[in-house]
Amino acid sequence: MTKRVAIFLSGGGSNMRALAQSMVGDHPARPCVIVSNQPDAGGIAWAKEQGLSTLVVDHKPFKGDRAAFEAEIQTHLEAHAPDIICLAGFMRVLTPAFVRPWAGRMLNIHPSLLPKYPGLHTHARALEAGDIQHGCTVHEVTEVLDDGPILGQAKLQIGGTATSDALAARVLKLEHQLYPQVLRRFAAGDRTPVMIQDTQD
Ligand code: GRF
Repeated sequence: MTKRVAIFLSGGGSNMRALAQSMVGDHPARPCVIVSNQPDAGGIAWAKEQGLSTLVVDHKPFKGDRAAFEAEIQTHLEAHAPDIICLAGFMRVLTPAFVRPWAGRMLNIHPSLLPKYPGLHTHARALEAGDIQHGCTVHEVTEVLDDGPILGQAKLQIGGTATSDALAARVLKLEHQLYPQVLRRFAAGDRTPVMIQDTQD
């Protein structure tokens, strides 16, 4: 049975595009809805152009009431009957009440080699630490932020990369390779981690 995938984003949605574009042909999944907390997210405009279903729940009117914000998403999400949720640059922290029912069915991409650097500013933190290796991770979402079983990592050698912006651009390219490969495997019921090394190294 083809799996139905909801993709959550807050911004440009380049990872969402990579995922959506990968779900064709004999892929075991298809996108069912693109979800955002930002009404003007570039990713939502693109999804509409592609004829994909979209769901926008602006978090701002729910200020101070995360439970109500999440309940609103959950209610509308049910109509799309997703089997899997992919978080792809979704910049709201989801509470355990939302995450728990999706245990084992919700993935996230994070721009660091977890368990290093959960949270924000990962590229700057890797540079400041003098790391020689950096990259990105796809993991199952648990109640702990940027934690959970690792389903894949893509690594690069930092080498002469001077700025955190340059590093972010290199990592983002790897994200676009890693996330679709992990999703394909995951949707087929295989949780064996995908490991990628940047070909530029
Ligand atoms: C990516 O770096 C992702 O790892 C992080 O947020 C960024 C989203 O980028 N969680 P995009 O919206 O997919 O272009």
